[in-house]
Amino acid sequence: MTRVAVLKGGRSLERQISLKSGARVQDALERLGHDVIGIDVGHDLVARLRAAAPEVAFVALHGRDGEDGTVQELLEAVGVPYTGSGVSACIRCADKVLAKHHMLDAGIPTPDFFAFNETAFKELGAADALPAIEQRLGFPIVVKPSNQGSALGIRIAREAKDVPGALVAAFSYGDKVLLERHVDGRDLAVSVLDRAGGPDRDPLVLPVVEAIPHEDDRYEARYEIGRTEFVCPAALPGELTQRAQDLALDVWRTLGCAGFARIDLMLDAAAGELYVLEANAIPGLTDTSLLPQAADAAGIGFDELIERVVQLALP
Ligand SMILES: Nc1ncnc2c1ncn2[C@@H]1O[C@H](COP(=O)(O)OP(=O)(O)O)[C@@H](O)[C@H]1O
Ligand SMILES: [Mg+2]
Repeated sequence: MTRVAVLKGGRSLERQISLKSGARVQDALERLGHDVIGIDVGHDLVARLRAAAPEVAFVALHGRDGEDGTVQELLEAVGVPYTGSGVSACIRCADKVLAKHHMLDAGIPTPDFFAFNETAFKELGAADALPAIEQRLGFPIVVKPSNQGSALGIRIAREAKDVPGALVAAFSYGDKVLLERHVDGRDLAVSVLDRAGGPDRDPLVLPVVEAIPHEDDRYEARYEIGRTEFVCPAALPGELTQRAQDLALDVWRTLGCAGFARIDLMLDAAAGELYVLEANAIPGLTDTSLLPQAADAAGIGFDELIERVVQLALP
């Protein structure tokens, strides 16, 4: 039996998803016979951690603070081991632009993009560069905040007149925004799970999941039950499956992930090419989340998944 603090909620825009992930993780840990303390992360986080004195923290937070290295840094400071990636990998994953630069440096394909801070528009006339950017990327262009998840703030600009509004929407979520080439194709996700036995053992790359939206409102639909269909393993030719899994492992290594992670990709339908969109340091763990589905398809039930992730975090 291990004393586990489950960190959930928090103040990010993904609070509701995190509460669901956290509740499900808590249930699993209780079934597994652990001593479980749930902590809704807020001002008193450090005090509550000290009072609870857990042997390990299960970080079931998504988005700002919980997934970007902030909470991880606090856990380092108070000396509590925690699940998932360390501070530096969380920082790299949480910032899509930073992650994409690391991928490019490592030769991992990611859609072409340009990224700017708001100051570039306010003080450096970046708007004057939009026609050149639009010409380089071609329409439609995906506009998204660098630091959000759950499809928040993502817009598709179909023509030049859509771009300014999409930028304003994206900047309302964060200071850095990217304009990215739209990949017309299929939405894939590959989750990676560490194995016990030390850093020399290759992590386990789980079966590919495909998200198939039922309607055209794909960004909003993604997290609503019944509006997106998930297929796992995705119906892909063997070599594409292999390539998607190899890319996911490359991304995992390049960004320095640990414990678990989910890598989101697009398959360009016409060219048959794969592009990595992003890596999620703390993938959703709700009933409809992709990593648990992929683990299940690999014969790893939810409780076993959670037990493994906790054991990996223990010193
Ligand atoms: N460049 C792109 N081309 C096509 N679809 C995209 C692109 N970027 C994002 N999307 C769509 O938006 C979804 C969310 O984008 P993603 O970059 O994974 O951000 P997040 O999941 O953090 O919100 C993707 O799963 C995909 O459906
Ligand atoms: Mg994503």
